[in-house]
Amino acid sequence: MNLEALLLSLHLDPALATFFGPHWESSLAALPAGGPDWLADDAVVASRRFVGLEPRYDAPLLAAAGAVRADAALALLAWHAARLAFEHQDYDLAQAQSWPDLSATLGEHAPLFYLLVAFQAVPHLQRAHGRRGIPVDVSRATCTHYLECTSLYSLTHAGRLGVRPAMLGWLRHHTSGELCCLGRMEYMVKPFRGRLRAFRQRESGLVVALADNGATFADSGLGPLPARPGAAADVWMALLEPAAHEVSGHPIAPDGRALRQRVTLDLRRWTPVLAPGDFILETHIPPGGGLTPTRCAESMRAALEFFPRHFPEHPFAGFACDSWVLNPELSEILSPTSNPVLWQRELYLFPLPSDGREGLQFIFGRDDVDPATAPRDTGLRRALLDQLAAGKPLRAGGMFCLPAEVAEFGTQPYRRRWPAVQAALNL
Ligand SMILES: CC(C)(COP(=O)(O)OP(=O)(O)OC[C@H]1O[C@@H](n2cnc3c(N)ncnc32)[C@H](O)[C@@H]1OP(=O)(O)O)[C@@H](O)C(=O)NCCC(=O)NCCS
Repeated sequence: MNLEALLLSLHLDPALATFFGPHWESSLAALPAGGPDWLADDAVVASRRFVGLEPRYDAPLLAAAGAVRADAALALLAWHAARLAFEHQDYDLAQAQSWPDLSATLGEHAPLFYLLVAFQAVPHLQRAHGRRGIPVDVSRATCTHYLECTSLYSLTHAGRLGVRPAMLGWLRHHTSGELCCLGRMEYMVKPFRGRLRAFRQRESGLVVALADNGATFADSGLGPLPARPGAAADVWMALLEPAAHEVSGHPIAPDGRALRQRVTLDLRRWTPVLAPGDFILETHIPPGGGLTPTRCAESMRAALEFFPRHFPEHPFAGFACDSWVLNPELSEILSPTSNPVLWQRELYLFPLPSDGREGLQFIFGRDDVDPATAPRDTGLRRALLDQLAAGKPLRAGGMFCLPAEVAEFGTQPYRRRWPAVQAALNL
């Protein structure tokens, strides 16, 4: 079938052919005679179970799958969308944001169309994890994105079941099996993107991070925010100068603030332990609250054993993460005994640039939150809204943590030793 004709038959704009054009002929050629077998009732229920969604999804999902099966054009579009998402890695899945709403043909079932498509990441995940000998419990646990996206959809669509097609992008990680959930957190081996270099002093084990050349900071040493209209930009730029046996630069304190003062490290005494591009366990925090220090420590310790066993070709330097949860100012926004703040204290924080509205998407399902009308039903929501209402920013932050310090969790290893670092570097 011609793609434009198919779009027209579904009451969709034929201009959408821009997004669905790639690999169209190959999808047509590969379509099984009876349509996609994954739209069968038993396949849908098995996927729903595997990803951990509640049984209350079954009836609406089966109704949606039945409606898609009954319309050859819809079934073909679902087949093609799943192939674009998970078979054709050259397809830019950011375009899924522009994939259409199918209400004109699917009515109330439309928001479940892309959930059915999203389920097609599961067989890829199972195969990729199976090849690495990863236990099926880990594969199941790694399906957190389904729960997160359906919850946020429900939150922003008056309780309706469904997902936005933009959620498909993250599921690409399942095709390679690189993402693994171990206890409270998820990890992937990735190059470190933080703009810093960390060094360990040989004899003492002390660790210090220096800001990378060109990294920018606010006067406070925190990450810069967008300049206010008409106001001068409050930003300074770090200079890192490597030489044969030494390196000079601006230290970053482990509470996540860069210092204007410069230091020089003698590289015969300070060994590089982390630099941009080094492989790290990129850490992600699925929803569900309960980010207790114990669960964080257990998860990170489990990752130190798991990844060398299942991804032996990827040695890694440590852990790293970028998140609103690592905002260095969070201890002033949440209680100092809240879980994110307790986790932060065990890590080496570093500043990141941000838009000043970080975390809202995760906690409210949208960025354009109005503090006057947004739900204030949990302590976390109230704290974030109060910050916004006071005209204060919600920043992002980064962290790294090296394996030796994971073993010391509970003792605030980087912060505890910071006075010794200050003494060693005359800070
Ligand atoms: C980040 C996160 C794990 C921190 O959880 P936590 O502080 O350990 O949560 P707790 O279980 O201690 O709950 C503390 C309060 O926050 C609330 N809360 C936790 N997660 C919430 C969420 N996703 N949305 C709204 N409120 C939330 C709890 O209901 C509780 O409120 P109460 O004080 O009124 O009872 C949690 O906010 C979460 O799951 N967020 C969604 C995922 C996310 O943001 N990941 C980071 C992506 S970069």
